[in-house]
Amino acid sequence: MRSVRKAAVWLFLAVERVLTAQIPLLPHYHEESLDSYSHFERNPRQWDLDEPHAVNATANLVFETVNSLLQHWANTRYRIGHTIVPGIVPVGTILYHGALSGPHIPTTPDWVAMEPEHSMVFCSGSVETGCWHVTFAVTRPMKVLYFDGSSAANIPEGTMDTQDLVAWSEMRPEWVDNEEQRIQDLCKWGLKNGVNGLVRMEVNFEIMICNFTSHMEVVSFSNLDSPRLKIDNITDLPDDPNTAHHAFEIMHSTSWRENYP
Ligand SMILES: *[C@@H]1O[C@H](CO)[C@@H](O)[C@H](O)[C@H]1NC(C)=O
Ligand SMILES: *[C@@H]1O[C@H](CO)[C@@H](O)[C@H](O)[C@H]1NC(C)=O
Ligand SMILES: *[C@@H]1O[C@H](CO)[C@@H](O)[C@H](O)[C@H]1NC(C)=O
Repeated sequence: MRSVRKAAVWLFLAVERVLTAQIPLLPHYHEESLDSYSHFERNPRQWDLDEPHAVNATANLVFETVNSLLQHWANTRYRIGHTIVPGIVPVGTILYHGALSGPHIPTTPDWVAMEPEHSMVFCSGSVETGCWHVTFAVTRPMKVLYFDGSSAANIPEGTMDTQDLVAWSEMRPEWVDNEEQRIQDLCKWGLKNGVNGLVRMEVNFEIMICNFTSHMEVVSFSNLDSPRLKIDNITDLPDDPNTAHHAFEIMHSTSWRENYP
């Protein structure tokens, strides 16, 4: 115990030495930088870091949001997003789409996933024919907008608010489940403004793609066994071992982004 305390004191002294060794460029740098805050309500000289912030303060929330972008757990715990981030998907990024109608790419706005485990849930076909799954590679830097929070959760508590504002300039709670209208109108706005994708968080991260040919090329089409996930009723157990394995893989791939982008 004593040696721990000794070490702590030694560390403190060492840190203090390092800090005092920092030589500011301006002789009165510290004084001047504090004075420059004098137009604020509270001078930093009077800051009490133990004092809780005002109940209506928001700066801390904005900071926390930025710190948590593209991390699944933080955006699950605080699911109502309030940040819209412009971004670029770099050339070479691989994206996945569970096709509905055979080996074709969508001709209207549709979704891609960042993990194949996620897109395979949307790959549907009969047990006899299997289903089609597409892998894409990004060929030109693709401008996107990212909505933070659980932004693909269709619930009325506010997870859709930032998207509603971009798509419709107002919140439309009556359209909370109207994903078709939402993707059409977000993409109408996007294509007009050079944005080809809207990034959201579902069970994992996804992108609504506005134009499937302008920034991506097909790497492969795969004919897969149709998953038999009963996503309409979560109390049902998957009915074969492959599907049980698949259900596990989705949850596992989601965990890769729990605390890291
Ligand atoms: C925050 O609350 C304080 C105390 O009630 C009030 O004086 C201040 O005007 C409020 N600030 C904002 C931005 O609402
Ligand atoms: C999609 O992109 C292709 C290739 O750049 C272009 O020819 C086509 O007009 C675009 N479609 C829409 C709806 O913008
Ligand atoms: C889901 O399955 C449970 C148990 O079999 C059943 O009681 C319930 O009615 C089902 N719900 C729907 C929406 O089908």
